[in-house]
Amino acid sequence: MVKAVVCGAAGGIGQPLSLLLKLNPLITELSLYDVVNAIGVATDLSHIATPAQVTGYLPPDNGAEKALKDADIVVIPAGVPRKPGMTRDDLFKVNAGICATLAQAIANACPKAFILVISNPVNSTVPVFAETLKKAGVFDPKKLFGVSHLDIVRAATFAATVVSSPADAPKYSIPVVGGHSGATIVPLLSQSNPKIPAEILSNKEKRDALVNRIQFGGDEVVKAKDGAGSATLSMAQAGAEFTEFVLQAAYGKKSRTVQAYVFLGADSGGEGVKKEIGAEVDYFSVNIELGPAGIEKILPIGTIDDQERTLLAAAVKELGPSIEKGVSFTPAPP
Ligand code: NAD
Ligand code: LMR
Repeated sequence: MVKAVVCGAAGGIGQPLSLLLKLNPLITELSLYDVVNAIGVATDLSHIATPAQVTGYLPPDNGAEKALKDADIVVIPAGVPRKPGMTRDDLFKVNAGICATLAQAIANACPKAFILVISNPVNSTVPVFAETLKKAGVFDPKKLFGVSHLDIVRAATFAATVVSSPADAPKYSIPVVGGHSGATIVPLLSQSNPKIPAEILSNKEKRDALVNRIQFGGDEVVKAKDGAGSATLSMAQAGAEFTEFVLQAAYGKKSRTVQAYVFLGADSGGEGVKKEIGAEVDYFSVNIELGPAGIEKILPIGTIDDQERTLLAAAVKELGPSIEKGVSFTPAPP
């Protein structure tokens, strides 16, 4: 019996994500929360003939906590998306408050749940979640994930496109570490499986173009949507896939290695990675081994080349202030 909750379920990501979770056979109860239209979306999805029972909740009468009650996993695409000309950081002012409110509701209603944060800017909203959960005395660093999985999906698609054809994307596995915005996104092309041919890796122009497309893939969608928001469908697929990884490790006994933006601070087991990157960052997207309790182990970044070392240094520099912004965020009084 697995209860999953989507917060922001009526949105551009929330609706297709909720649909994909409704199709996931591991989920028996699907609870949808939004400030608008959650009941409509839930009623619609409830007609699909799969086991998950779907219910929708709106804010009145403590709807958030009712939706979240005893959840096993909460996926959060709540908040405003970018428009052309905006950075993810421009979303912080609105989305940090939404994230702090939802984190408090999770602390009250389902403190042991896995928490998957999609709301941007992920580099700062994950620290907002952690700090709120810490204050409530329920922070478990093994269960809090910033979802950077879309960067991994993009890396596979764009690398395959350059090497052979987008049709080969499913064959590619390329770790992406760092954070989730521009220069903080560090694709480790030298670790690609299958290998990216040397004629691309050692060609500065081709390699820089591939790295840049992965780092700024989000902008590509924002520009193409021309004011109608940012990535929703690809994010829903990436979010559902990442949810499946966490659930398979927790309930399906299939442990696996993935990357997510996680806490590297005290007692997290992240000391080794901090030494590898030579910086005191308390949040980073790293290789993690998933297991029944969430993050079983934070794994090393491993062997990287000179270009990747330069990218990592730039990522760390940009991440520091974003993390600090999230850590020091004080929500407005209710
Ligand atoms: P959207 O505006 O279409 O949907 C957001 C939904 O959140 C809306 O339905 C809105 O009513 C709801 N919402 C607002 N305040 C809420 C609250 N307090 N509680 C519950 N729900 C609330 O936006 P979208 O395109 O779905 O994007 C959502 C977020 O995801 C944005 O911040 C966007 O930047 C981010 N995003 C992240 C990634 C990633 O890779 N992590 C990728 C794409 C988008
Ligand atoms: C993305 O990478 O697509 C998301 O973070 C949304 C955005 O603002 O680009």
